[in-house]
Amino acid sequence: MKENAYFDNAATTWPKPEPVYEFMDSFFRSHGVNPGRSGSLLAVEAEQMITKTRSMLAQFFNFSGPSNRVVFTLNGTDALNQAIAGLVKPGDHMITTRLEHNAVLRTANHFERDYGVEVSRISPDEAGYINPVEIASNITDQTRAIVINHASNVIGTVQPLQQIADVAKAANIPLIVDAAQTAGVLPIDMDTLGISVLTFPGHKGLFGPMGIGGMIVSESVDLTPHRFGGTGVDSLSTYQPDAYPYRLEAGTVSLPGIAGLHAAQLWFRDLGMRCATLLNIDKAESLSHGELCRHAMKHIHETELSHIKRIETALSGYEKVTVLGNAVDDARVATLSFTVDDIPTVQVADQLDADHQICARAGLQCAPLVHVDAGTVEGGGTIRLSPGFFTDEEDMQQLLHALNEILS
Ligand SMILES: Cc1ncc(COP(=O)(O)O)c(C=O)c1O
Repeated sequence: MKENAYFDNAATTWPKPEPVYEFMDSFFRSHGVNPGRSGSLLAVEAEQMITKTRSMLAQFFNFSGPSNRVVFTLNGTDALNQAIAGLVKPGDHMITTRLEHNAVLRTANHFERDYGVEVSRISPDEAGYINPVEIASNITDQTRAIVINHASNVIGTVQPLQQIADVAKAANIPLIVDAAQTAGVLPIDMDTLGISVLTFPGHKGLFGPMGIGGMIVSESVDLTPHRFGGTGVDSLSTYQPDAYPYRLEAGTVSLPGIAGLHAAQLWFRDLGMRCATLLNIDKAESLSHGELCRHAMKHIHETELSHIKRIETALSGYEKVTVLGNAVDDARVATLSFTVDDIPTVQVADQLDADHQICARAGLQCAPLVHVDAGTVEGGGTIRLSPGFFTDEEDMQQLLHALNEILS
């Protein structure tokens, strides 16, 4: 039996690919200086690593704009706060959904209460999908942003991004996409979709460490900065420089965090190369970074879906289990939430942990409105299971055995 069978990848992926640990350690030891703050060779090389990471992330999300618009943040929440605050002013209107994480919900709530921003929160259908027509019908003259969760961190439903992007485009309203649950799992094409700001944490599907996140700000919008401070450039300027990324990156960035993302990008590319070679794709070695990473993501998504389907099938064998939402195969990530009729949620999670060494997440998963709508608040929320790319057969057997013991 494993000491920890980890089924909480929606919270953060773990473990990370081995090269991520190795490169973070070696680069931090060899180049742990303040990048962009001095002209020393070490600082220049550290800055070069960061610049290269921006450019790999731009290709990863098929963003053909300048890679200095790939901005590093503390985490996904920080990126969302900056994106929303950068576009929405007192008295404006914004549209979001009831599927959102508190990273968006609380930000919108504060804007509503503290700055008189009007907020429309769209409800999903029974299965957990947002109807783009509902978004369109909530647009007003004052709407300054549509903020949408690409995939729910509770029920795993993936929203019809293309149709939502089309609605935003037709009305000329900036679209902010929270890709916390999809970045690194599903290909996201910023150029084709016409996303205005894509936000992502580094520590989930992108396989970086905690303490790093980011956003890509398309050239169709400019975010007003709300963080002010040193940038290492243009120090005489009285105000925050206009140029990206400095406009939105005040203070020292997380060099170890970016090194982690850097190594993870190379790992994606390597995995993509292996997938392309296995598929006998002609001239795999001449594919771009973005193309190779898309092969890797396809493989990652398929692997994770195979795990979640086995879990779903196992759970369907217990009458007292209710699975939330009704995510359909091709529009979901590997996250699933359930309740048990006669056992409190917290007890199921405690038993999974204490008796079977299974890491799962019980509660509201920071997305309270999903639980309000599902009527699961009183029962303490749901048990969420989220296998990952590194989930193996031993993890699965441990989980399936534990579920059988607890639920039979
Ligand atoms: C959908 C969604 N949005 C935003 C976040 C916030 O990301 P972070 O924890 O990196 O701030 C999460 C984290 O769980 C999430 O699942």
